[in-house]
Formats: sequence, C-alpha cells, structure tokens
Amino acid sequence: MGHWTLDSIDWSRFDRARVSPDLLAVAKAAALVEANGRDYATYLANVFADDPDFRQAAARWAEEEVQHGDALARWSRLADPAWDFDAAVARFRAGYSLPLDATASVRGSRAGELIARCIVETGTSSYYSALAEASDEPVFAEICRRIAADEFRHYKLFYEHMRRYLQRERIGAVGRARIGLGRLLEAGDDELACAYFAANAPADARYDRRRWSRAYARRAYAVYRPAHVARGIAMALKAVGLPANGRLHAILWPLASRLIGWRARRLAAAGA
Ligand SMILES: [Fe+2]
Ligand SMILES: [Fe+2]
Repeated sequence: MGHWTLDSIDWSRFDRARVSPDLLAVAKAAALVEANGRDYATYLANVFADDPDFRQAAARWAEEEVQHGDALARWSRLADPAWDFDAAVARFRAGYSLPLDATASVRGSRAGELIARCIVETGTSSYYSALAEASDEPVFAEICRRIAADEFRHYKLFYEHMRRYLQRERIGAVGRARIGLGRLLEAGDDELACAYFAANAPADARYDRRRWSRAYARRAYAVYRPAHVARGIAMALKAVGLPANGRLHAILWPLASRLIGWRARRLAAAGA
C-alpha cells in the first residue's frame, strides 16, 4: 500500500567519499537488530495469541522492520564490500536471543508490552531521524529518513493497540511510568552492545559488554541534536499517559539532551 521497497532507493547516488566510518559502524549494528524483526513477531504472536487483528498488524510490522535491516545491510555492503552480513547475523544470534517460547509478556501484561513497544519505536524514530541529519552520504540519509517515517508510524500503531488494552487492563500512572522507564533503561542493555560487537569486532575479539556498549554509545549518542531529544521525550511521556508537552517535558528534555551530549563527549575522550 504505497510502502517503499529497496527499489525505491536511488542507490546510484551513493558517494563513497562521504561515508563516515562511525555511521557505517552503527548502520551495521542497526541492520542486525532490525533483522531480528521476525523473532519479535513470533514473540508478539505468542503473547497476543487470541487477538488476530493485532497479530496481523504485528506480522506486517515485522516485515517492515526486516526490510529496514535489508536496506541498512545493502548500504553497509556498498560502503564496505568485505562485510559479511550473514556471518554477522549468525554471530549476533549466537550471543543474543529473544524469549521465543514465552506465552505471556515479559512486561507483565499486554498493555505493558505495548507501552514497551511504544518506547522502542520512540527510540528508533528519533535515532533514525538523527542519523539521517548526521549523514553527509545521500543514500544513507535517504534510507534513514524512510526508516524514521516507518518508526513514527509503528509508534502510532502500538499506541492505538495500547489504548485498547488499557481499557481492560487498568495500569495506574506509576505502573505505566515504571514499564516505560524500565524499557528505556534496557536501551543500555545487551542487545545493542551485542549487535555492535557482532557487526564490527575483529573475528578473534571476545565479547565484553562494557567495552562494546561504550563503543556503540559513543557513536550513537553523538548524532542526537536537541530537537530529536525533545520529540523523543514528548513521545515517551505520551506513551506512559503523561502530558507530552507539559511542565515535565520542559524540565526533562534539556536535561536528557545535555546528558546525551556529555556522555558522547566523555566516551569520545576516553577513546571508547
Ligand atoms: Fe526499524
Ligand atoms: Fe519500528
């Protein structure tokens, strides 16, 4: 339905001289995380076993996420023809996997699961918006713009289903905030560090979570500008049922923006 494909992208505009090694490294890691989309769909289909509407929407959503991975992988191979995507995916899967046999949400409830999904899409939409603006390479910028538009739509999709579930499962403001914050903190977790490692570490390197999560964060945090943080904080607040642009937003976003910038500079100074 008018959705883009890999053929929608004008690959002929690729400009090798404008590829940033740091953005290439995070693009490879993102390709691996996105490639896991179908596993998430399996997990969501188990958790929402008796909700065919949501399962169908989740299956379509997963295909879009997998396509994000395909587009990022194709661009990464254009920039670095020696990169072996399949080997990197295998390495990532060996180190990180989802609870595919779960039949209940790891968030404690279905509404909770959907709050967590909203937080993830908040993160991806702001991240790809920031990557698009940080990139001088036109094809990577175009891919990130298209992906960011999808991620904003994904947020909306999960948000609408979350509202439907919240009518049945009453979760108070504190409970929602706790789930949202919990998912936000997981962003520093194994998944991204492991993807960065699997995508970029030399073949004989050993996985060390602290080292690779710092290497990832140094490059990822560096792309955020205040506007991306402001929008992301507004989306996260809305997902947990708080006013998106109220007083809390006005307090939180400049703090978060400064914290991200400070951390990126510190990690760069430490040579992470
Ligand atoms: Fe995605
Ligand atoms: Fe998404």
